[in-house]
Amino acid sequence: MMALRFSIFIFTISLCFIFDFQAISAQRDDEDVTIKTMEEFSGYPIHEPIYPNSLSSLSVNSDSLQKQIDELATFSDSPAPSVTRILYSEKDVLARRYIKNLMELSGLSVREDAVGNIFGRWNGYEPELAPVLTGSHIDAIPYSGKYDGVVGVLGAIEAINVLKRSGFKPKRSLEVIMFTSEEPTRFGISCLGSRLLAGSVQLAELLKKTVDGQNISFSEAAKFAGYGNAKGDLSEVFLKKGSYSAFVELHIEQGPILEKEGTSIGVVTAIAAPASIKVTFEGNGGHAGAALMPERNDAGLAAAELALAVEKHVLESGSIDTVGTVGILKLHPGAINSIPSMAHLEIDTRDIDESRRNLVIEKIHQSALAIAKKRKVILSEFEIVNQDPPALSDESITKATELACQELNLTHKRMISRAYHDSLFMARISPMDMIFIPCYKGYSHKPEEFSSVGDIANGVKVLALTLAKLSLS
Ligand code: GLV
Ligand code: MN
Ligand code: MN
Repeated sequence: MMALRFSIFIFTISLCFIFDFQAISAQRDDEDVTIKTMEEFSGYPIHEPIYPNSLSSLSVNSDSLQKQIDELATFSDSPAPSVTRILYSEKDVLARRYIKNLMELSGLSVREDAVGNIFGRWNGYEPELAPVLTGSHIDAIPYSGKYDGVVGVLGAIEAINVLKRSGFKPKRSLEVIMFTSEEPTRFGISCLGSRLLAGSVQLAELLKKTVDGQNISFSEAAKFAGYGNAKGDLSEVFLKKGSYSAFVELHIEQGPILEKEGTSIGVVTAIAAPASIKVTFEGNGGHAGAALMPERNDAGLAAAELALAVEKHVLESGSIDTVGTVGILKLHPGAINSIPSMAHLEIDTRDIDESRRNLVIEKIHQSALAIAKKRKVILSEFEIVNQDPPALSDESITKATELACQELNLTHKRMISRAYHDSLFMARISPMDMIFIPCYKGYSHKPEEFSSVGDIANGVKVLALTLAKLSLS
């Protein structure tokens, strides 16, 4: 009985495709003078397949995709299996070349903007319509893995190959993007490329005076990688709202839920609100043996106390969705026998509820002031680097993705993203949606990060079918 129902289901879907295909085919043939002339000349109708002919024609070349993931991982500044690929470094430049080459091999026309966001376009047969965009990032934080972001870039190029092989012809153009610096590693700014695309005037201004840990300016670093513009005016990167009809990002979940539940695909409905804060305490320092304990104002201890306060305030929220991390803690001068005269912390805190996240930030600030007073150190910096609101996916795109999962017979569930992504900013200028695939134990931002070829292929198929639907919409 079940088997019969399933066969009827597949048959109905196939009919939908055939009808869809014939309707679009007829409409296009009517419009295309060349085809009409060829038909008149040859005496029989010429039909080019437009929609993927059948779901089985959506075949992912998993071997070559895995090979690309492995090859890209070799452009790294740390030994395998870890990956370190920092913005505008030599390895980043080589990796960018690798991506552009793959885009060209897939027949995409490639362009780059002033900060190195890379776009590859497959022209649709109605190229004046706003295109559909998909992609992610390939920069990697120190000692991380080879799947974060990469699956969404290489997977997007493969999704285009899948559609091409299936005979699909896009109505709206389809574009793949590789975003510049989703990770905040070099300049302390996350989602740098997508923030600019979304029109952040504040960031364009800030980048004029931003330097990295080696005092290299953003524009110098960009120039090294072959980017930048003569006037230093990054507003040319901004995109107008509506430049794209939809944006879809394929990504590993970076959490354990899909794998634990045995669900193939996560359809993301919202992305948590991230914030990052820089804090510096300054004290007098001194000799670790000779300076007596009551006389000290130890900047390192102030930082340690603040790190514990971050944990306390996060836990006080009472929600599992509130998180906080002190990922950077630097002591100066950094000698075993010297009392730290300066301590610098960088704090990351996030929540799906923006006001609850903001309350945590306020409490951290109050604690920093109180600790400075108690320990007689100076709170010389308390800078909220970013305090972004959460983003919601667009219901019509999530529906298209869910439909793609149903048609491909893949289990799926709606979920939120606790990690941030370029989608957070693309949502400001385009309807957005994300597709998650399972990853081993939810590991990410470490070398053990892993997704199986089967899970990646599922994600690519769902992406390809979602893009096909959005292209024809
Ligand atoms: C992205 O890399 C994040 O930290 O969520
Ligand atoms: Mn990441
Ligand atoms: Mn990522």
